[in-house]
Amino acid sequence: MRSYLSKMVTSTQLPEREERAEHIADAGYNVFNLSSSDVFIDLLTDSGTGTMSDEQWAALFRGDEAYAGSSSFEALEDAVKSVMGFEHVVPAHQGRGAENVLYGTLFESDDVVPNNTHFDTTRAHVANAGAEPVDCPVDGAMDPDASGDFKGNLDIDAVRSLVEDRGAASVPAIILTITNNSAAGQPVSVENTRKASDLADELDVPLVIDACRFAENAYFVTQREPGYEDATVAEVAREQLSYADALVMSAKKDGITNIGGFVAVRDPELFERVKQRAILYEGFSTYGGMAGRDIEALAVGLQEAVEDEYVAQRIGQTQELGEQLAAAGAPIYQPLGGHAVYLDAEALLSHLPLAKYPGQALVVELYREGGVRGVELGSFAFPDTDRPELVRLALPRRTYHREHLDHIVETVTAVMEHAESVPGYEVVWEPPRKELRHFSAELEPV
Ligand code: F0G
Repeated sequence: MRSYLSKMVTSTQLPEREERAEHIADAGYNVFNLSSSDVFIDLLTDSGTGTMSDEQWAALFRGDEAYAGSSSFEALEDAVKSVMGFEHVVPAHQGRGAENVLYGTLFESDDVVPNNTHFDTTRAHVANAGAEPVDCPVDGAMDPDASGDFKGNLDIDAVRSLVEDRGAASVPAIILTITNNSAAGQPVSVENTRKASDLADELDVPLVIDACRFAENAYFVTQREPGYEDATVAEVAREQLSYADALVMSAKKDGITNIGGFVAVRDPELFERVKQRAILYEGFSTYGGMAGRDIEALAVGLQEAVEDEYVAQRIGQTQELGEQLAAAGAPIYQPLGGHAVYLDAEALLSHLPLAKYPGQALVVELYREGGVRGVELGSFAFPDTDRPELVRLALPRRTYHREHLDHIVETVTAVMEHAESVPGYEVVWEPPRKELRHFSAELEPV
């Protein structure tokens, strides 16, 4: 069993109730406009918000800031090779930088790209390359109450139908996002990965894995997939990634760093093309927009991310929060995902029609009630889609303690107790690009 000791602390303050009401009103009822100093527990994202280890902090000092060929880049190459099994690595400033570099290289206009579910930035970069992103989740993935061990899987038959419909020539790659962030952080099985890889081989296109939560995914495999009961997280991760031809990685998740990302590929010719595009958009191909010190911390973080005790503790915390919330009667997406607990806002605020944004209403109320910041991933963030009305409570890695979990549960419970009096909202201002509106739109209670 492992636990973590605090070597450095930071304090957070719960503003008074009236102050919280004022802050959220000033923020246009949009938690992206809050100052973090006014947030008591910040569950907006698990991305870049985790706590680095002492080994990672020590590694920062070894950072080699050479413009080209730094020793920190070599440390990253070694880590990616040993943990993920890829030889060719190009750093990027974060996940979406890696997406721009790889997808801009691979995709052209009129291509159609299947993915178990495109994360928002993935969707945007596929579209930006002129291609059409198509989600192929398995049945039940978007249903908070459906059962299933691997609700994050890719629907292989749906990809086959897409290929038949649009012609093999227009499908340049298959993407698999592990875990499936847009499907409540649900894992993807190794079997499904193997099938996706077989299909990609059949079509003679690369299988790309969005690996940002690859270690968490591997942990679920050890817990749920027959044949992997005795495997270590590191072994599963290596095997699962071995089926991919390329990786895009946001290091801010399972790299356990505050910033960074990379593309990894097997094919030397693709490597060359990726490097050229990286130079244009990210920086020279051995630093790609990252400081050498951050690359060095990432090299250590990747190795820590696949330590069995680390991931068990990490996922264990999410499970603990989910179980406590379920015990308190909160409607949550089941089974619990890896990086977050997802509340079913439509069920929790059942008096509010979707047109009044129950998800956003719940997010606002969690802040007003307990200074807890979550994020809406329903009708406000994804207008004109039929996504479930979920509110994500994402846990930063190695950051919060049991007392914080208790506070979160108390806050959700208090909101449930006065649910009927929680108002709905209307959007009073939104930016021209509606698909990114949840970052900056402003609302008013109705
Ligand atoms: N792919 C997935 C599956 C992600 O979850 C994210 C980021 C990205 C790509 C992009 O990476 O942020 O480093 O540019 N997800 C964060 C989140 C923002 O809150 O889930 P990035």
